[in-house]
Amino acid sequence: MTTSSPEAVVLAAGQGTRMKSSLPKVLHDLGGKPLLGHVLETVRSLGTSAIHVVYGHGGDAVQNALPADDLNWVHQAEQLGTGHAVQRAIPHVHSDGAVLMLYGDVPLVKRATLQRALDIAASGSLAVVTARLEDPTGYGRIVRSESGSVTAIREHKDASQEELAIDEINSGIMAGPVPQVRTWLARLDNNNAQGELYLTDLVEAAVTDAVPVETVLVDDENEISGVNDRVQLAELERAYQRERAEALMRAGVTLRDPARIDIRGEVDVAPDVTIDVNVILEGHVRIGAGTTIGANCVITDADIASGVTVLPNCVIEKATIGAGSRVGPFARVRPDAELGEDVHVGNFVEVKKSKLGRGAKVNHLSYVGDAEVGERVNVGAGTITCNYDGANKHKTTIGDDAFIGSGAMLVAPVTVGTGATIGAGSTINRDAPDGELTVARVKQRSISGWKRPEKIKK
Ligand code: UD1
Ligand code: CA
Repeated sequence: MTTSSPEAVVLAAGQGTRMKSSLPKVLHDLGGKPLLGHVLETVRSLGTSAIHVVYGHGGDAVQNALPADDLNWVHQAEQLGTGHAVQRAIPHVHSDGAVLMLYGDVPLVKRATLQRALDIAASGSLAVVTARLEDPTGYGRIVRSESGSVTAIREHKDASQEELAIDEINSGIMAGPVPQVRTWLARLDNNNAQGELYLTDLVEAAVTDAVPVETVLVDDENEISGVNDRVQLAELERAYQRERAEALMRAGVTLRDPARIDIRGEVDVAPDVTIDVNVILEGHVRIGAGTTIGANCVITDADIASGVTVLPNCVIEKATIGAGSRVGPFARVRPDAELGEDVHVGNFVEVKKSKLGRGAKVNHLSYVGDAEVGERVNVGAGTITCNYDGANKHKTTIGDDAFIGSGAMLVAPVTVGTGATIGAGSTINRDAPDGELTVARVKQRSISGWKRPEKIKK
């Protein structure tokens, strides 16, 4: 069965020796996602009917890291060149429309660029994505006739002095009409400096068949930059982060320094949010209007409502924080923490798997785990919900308007009643009734005439 909708072939078989890594190159992380994941996401946005990924080195690892129903994995056991890689994939291509050929290690290529290449291919021409570089060393050069039409791509290692002076380079991204690409691939040979099957030789084949070759010239070099080593990976990470930071600022977010924020996931940040320096946002993060995030916070998979103040040095993970709340400095809000509106969680406080009702305050040095804390509850400094008996976790329930004195140990399972008061320093292991003061600590006494021990002289 043939269709006319485009398909894509992504080359990802290279070893990536210069990464000096046991992890396949295309799995290295950029902005919280593998390099190949970025490419696949962009390709998917084109609405291709099939995506064929040519893998080789670290094959299983690559497939396992990027499980998806819409990918057809094609194995290339030996890396005999980019042309060979596409030869492996082309039998799986069923479209008689256009095929897009690109690399899995070029993460920042834009959808619009790929779309332009596909449009050219759909019109029957061969498209090549190119760029003009100040230093074209190592790249294939775009050779043109006197009239300006593309006649060949010459690899650096095969190029004449004259060709080496050409500054327009092949990005490696091409698109062409499937029936022609199929015949051109069959005609490739390895008569070249590297003894490889060059995908770039499709250009000369097209010229021979009088099929026009058109270029899509990109201005932003980062768009076509591949990752060969960790220095290039870091450079592209910066470029990517700059883009994400600019998108936030354009959406009305104040970044105290756009060079000092890292976004590694999908973020939904409302206008008039202010983010101070060295903040990391990971996974799915939503931040509501007017919220401020202090310096050095790491926020992962969190939902932070509007008008919240997160003071510096907080770690927030898989948690929700209600409107008007104040968190930190130095607070750790762990998975399944649900802070209601106007909640205060202060310095050196850890909250895990707990609900804190509207207006509850836990301001200093406390641990609240597996707890349900009512509205307007005040938890004094140094209070601990003793939720773990060494084998099982137990729940602490604290009613609305309760007041927990400083240094209380609440040994779960335990319930503190509505409006109850717990005396400072109490160890509470039985339920404390509503509205009453419960104190559980040894009586204070003073011993008159007691003397401190003296140092023994030797
Ligand atoms: C290739 C192009 C060159 C272009 C450059 C852009 C050819 C012959 N040359 O050169 O014109 O300027 O990219 O970066 O195409 N791969 C496979 N299987 C193989 C060989 C390569 O999957 O057998 C994959 C690699 O994993 C990589 C990509 O194809 O993602 C490019 O391979 P690479 O060896 O880096 O090509 P270059 O020599 O840089
Ligand atoms: Ca390369």
